[in-house]
Amino acid sequence: MATIELAKRVATRPTWAEVSLSALRQNFRIVQKHVGDGVTICAVVKADGYGHGAVECARALEDEGARWFGVTSLDEAIPLREAGIHSRILLMTGFWRGEEEEIVHLKLTPTVWETGQIELLEKAAAHMDARLPIHLKVDTGMGRLGVAPEDLPQLCVALKASKHLVVEGLSTHLASSEVLDAPSVPEQLQSLDRVDQLLENEGFHPPLVHAANTSAVISRGESWNTMVRPGIALYGYYLPFERAGREVSGKGLRLPVKPVLTWKTRILSLRDVRANQALGYGGIYVTKAPARVAVLPVGYADGFNRALSSRGRVIVGEHYAPIVGRISMDLTLVDVTGLPDIAVGDEAILLGARDGLSVDAREHAALANTVLYEILCGISKRVPRRHIS
Ligand SMILES: Cc1ncc(COP(=O)(O)O)c(C=O)c1O
Repeated sequence: MATIELAKRVATRPTWAEVSLSALRQNFRIVQKHVGDGVTICAVVKADGYGHGAVECARALEDEGARWFGVTSLDEAIPLREAGIHSRILLMTGFWRGEEEEIVHLKLTPTVWETGQIELLEKAAAHMDARLPIHLKVDTGMGRLGVAPEDLPQLCVALKASKHLVVEGLSTHLASSEVLDAPSVPEQLQSLDRVDQLLENEGFHPPLVHAANTSAVISRGESWNTMVRPGIALYGYYLPFERAGREVSGKGLRLPVKPVLTWKTRILSLRDVRANQALGYGGIYVTKAPARVAVLPVGYADGFNRALSSRGRVIVGEHYAPIVGRISMDLTLVDVTGLPDIAVGDEAILLGARDGLSVDAREHAALANTVLYEILCGISKRVPRRHIS
């Protein structure tokens, strides 16, 4: 009984995110059509599906035909398996010592780049009398994870000694795929090709070769190989492309994906205030004239970025309402002066579109001087996700 009452209470706080699973499925179809049926999509659902709910998203995507999912680690893979996701799951950030048997048991696919990892996995797979496919990661220039190309021969020695491991994939990650004139991108792709050739010479023939994230999926067909790893495109976004240090757009740099998440709240209180009234912490915003202020039950504890204080806007009715004063932990003030028919309980859109108005994660990112990924992943657990088919 107590649990039911609690669940009811949580569900009534009127700040929530709607996740359109039909938009997600549509985005997957758009990406698949773009790369063609011959290229396998590894749908990246790490970080709880970029804040959209990994389990629900993976279910919808699997239903739409996705056969591979990318997560960062074992802890992110377990809920997917528990939810009945049967597709292949790539652990993109490898694994930690002690996780090997669970990886074999759950039929997960680890990314590896060190001899020690190969030895641990071989031991576990041998112990469980299983065959374990792995994906080798090579550092072609990102300077983050992966074996250096010159250290690959040594890794091949360990691989040849591992009777239970199968080199199914070869991957790398591009550092600047949205920068169209970045010399690093062709260099990284050439380096990947050389490593692939080297592996062939050593007797390994990984059928899945992958490098492309969203920006490369959109703009660089030469990077697709046999598998691509889009994340953000599935959720309806991509980074702006750049050339010569400037943002560029145009043909070949667009994909008609649509944002999947709409973040909403409801007006908690309406206040008429006088001119010269300081609003919120620090009184950084002072009204110039009498104003009507709506108090929204959302704050930085929900992931509503504090950098939007006195800079961002929300949609109330058919209008934009500017954020006034500092966003606090649980509350935000917006100026609704002159907006007709506003009442307590009315919906306000924090991220999303209505009647030709739109506030998207790109706008938040620009105001908060960050990337749109951080905006989406930053919507906190306090905000319930409602998945809509
Ligand atoms: C290794 C790897 N592959 C693919 C992706 C997906 O990138 P995007 O969301 O830009 O498509 C990420 C995301 O950061 C990643 O770390």
